[in-house]
Amino acid sequence: MQTVGIIGAGIMGSGIAQTVAGKGMDVILTDISLENAEKGKAGIGKGLAKLVARDKLTQADADALLARIAPVADYSAMSGCDLIIEAATEREEIKLRIFEAAGKVLGETAIMASNTSSIPITRMAAGSPDPARFCGLHFFNPVPVMGLVEVIPGLATAPDTVDRMKAFGEKLGKTVVLAGDEPGFVVNRILCPMVNEAIFVLGAGIGSVEDIDAGCRIGLNHPMGPLTLADFVGLDTLYQIMKVFHSTTGDPKYRPAPLLQKYVEAGWYGRKTGRGFYDYSGEKPVPTR
Ligand code: 3HC
Repeated sequence: MQTVGIIGAGIMGSGIAQTVAGKGMDVILTDISLENAEKGKAGIGKGLAKLVARDKLTQADADALLARIAPVADYSAMSGCDLIIEAATEREEIKLRIFEAAGKVLGETAIMASNTSSIPITRMAAGSPDPARFCGLHFFNPVPVMGLVEVIPGLATAPDTVDRMKAFGEKLGKTVVLAGDEPGFVVNRILCPMVNEAIFVLGAGIGSVEDIDAGCRIGLNHPMGPLTLADFVGLDTLYQIMKVFHSTTGDPKYRPAPLLQKYVEAGWYGRKTGRGFYDYSGEKPVPTR
């Protein structure tokens, strides 16, 4: 892999772009507009500046990394990419539109991958130009820091595509786990119901925001409590994931917590909107309940 196209310049797309460019590959980054793609690149620049200020990265390396990321307005610039990674909003109709449009410029041997957290790969592959060259490639937030990537073959994914995706994950310095094409794959299938349950616990008044988070942080040795993590991942994303689990399996144990739905309806998506289970407007996050 030398040139990687990334569709979506939000938290995940930007994190993937930074990681790929950090390993010396060229990135072509797009979003719904050139302005959004440029905003994504500017966000990466801000993060790198912090690393430079803390002597974690040299200014020269930060500049070289940023120079390898090219924001573009549309998919036509991606025709020379060896791999196109979709990291757009977690909504199937949006992703299908992307696969159709980006599929028109996909090179003859190039792979199309999706960073979906929960939508079946086999189903999305069917809407791509060559399902044999379609694969799930699931990163974790913050991508430059988290050491894992899941590779998820769909029913029609060719073994060669899986091998190339595993090699790509390893080139990024990640541990690769192979996951079956079932809702949530391996990690989110376990994580998201746990975080959703924490919101049920909050809604039932069993614990406060702070006590639920402290309980899991200290009692389970998790780096973040589940409500902090929900705000970090985005409550809108978590809600979409639980809805996919629920509708795909039909199992009521996956129903989104009513309080999660309420927060999403209020537009309280967590860190990205400045408010979720915590308020992020001040110096330190403050619980909102
Ligand atoms: N690029 C490169 N390095 C970065 C970085 C970035 N953008 N952001 C942070 N870092 C580095 C820091 O420099 C620091 O390095 P050091 O250890 O050498 O000093 C290290 O990462 C840790 O950063 P901080 O000191 O700022 O922060 P913390 O020690 O508080 O750790 C955290 C932050 C890594 C986010 C930690 O709280 C954590 O692991 N939380 C859990 C995250 C998690 O569970 N993610 C998965 C979410 S689920 C998901 O993504 C799937 C989706 O589909 C829902």
